[in-house]
Amino acid sequence: MAFQIDGARVLITGAASGIGLACAEAFAARGATLILSDIDPEALRREGARLNARTTIACNISSAEDVAQLAQEVQRTTGGVDVLINNAGIGYLGAFEDTSIAEWQRVIDINVIGMVRVIQAFLPAMRASGRAGSIVNVASTAGFAPTASMAAYAASKHAVVGLSEVLAMELHDTPIRVTMVAPGIVNTNIVKASRNLSPGIRPAQIERLQTYYDKKGCAPDVIARDIVRGVERGVPLVRSGPYARLLCTMMRLSRRIARRVAINSSRDIGFLAAAKS
Ligand SMILES: NC(=O)c1ccc[n+]([C@@H]2O[C@H](COP(=O)([O-])OP(=O)(O)OC[C@H]3O[C@@H](n4cnc5c(N)ncnc54)[C@H](O)[C@@H]3O)[C@@H](O)[C@H]2O)c1
Repeated sequence: MAFQIDGARVLITGAASGIGLACAEAFAARGATLILSDIDPEALRREGARLNARTTIACNISSAEDVAQLAQEVQRTTGGVDVLINNAGIGYLGAFEDTSIAEWQRVIDINVIGMVRVIQAFLPAMRASGRAGSIVNVASTAGFAPTASMAAYAASKHAVVGLSEVLAMELHDTPIRVTMVAPGIVNTNIVKASRNLSPGIRPAQIERLQTYYDKKGCAPDVIARDIVRGVERGVPLVRSGPYARLLCTMMRLSRRIARRVAINSSRDIGFLAAAKS
């Protein structure tokens, strides 16, 4: 039976921009009750008001205190969630040899431990309610078939794939479905955050990457529409946007060919060889 989105309480992390914001719009259009959260309080307030969200709660998912407060606030204002969309995350660009342990830790702390923390904060109440529910973990095509200069990001998204797969198995006999999402190239603010670049990345490389995204990327609402459909149908894996399906399939069929394609596209964007030249 299809999951009923109309009237469902949907919590989205990282809801003030990009894919999270597009999800908020798509779920609102289907009659969901929005509970929006983001680390950026101003953008969150603005978008929450525009979308008539039931509640907006500023939260840094890498802070245990913030996440505990988020869970308390959600319980108080809406009595719980039916759909939990773990979308908040950061990108990180940098050759392996230019990425410090501190940056590895920051990426893993947000993209992996942050997600784990949020799931741990909400899963017990979701299970106790006995209601049909959905947990959506936004991974990336990089969690299956990465390109060069993204070791920390790719590792974090591989971890999201692994934890989602195991969580899905453990919740198999419950009314809660787990959907992992592998978006391809999506035009959002993710490539614009200079904080998430290693010192070895040059402005010319960023310009080339931005041009590549502008040319090949899709709008975030493409991903949001597929996520809504994935939740409705309880789909285990949503591959969405340019190259997502192709790259994931290619990696499954031949790692050798997938790697060759990734090397070529890394060179095209200027993230291989150029990084050290
Ligand atoms: N854009 C792409 O091409 C692409 C491709 C694959 C996967 N993704 C994934 O999609 C998700 C959303 O990314 P996006 O492209 O929409 O980027 P974005 O930068 O437009 O949006 C990310 C949102 O997350 C918030 N955020 C960042 N750190 C946070 C934290 N510690 N706590 C709470 N909120 C935080 C930001 O404020 C922002 O509003 C990420 O997990 C990203 O890895 C993006």
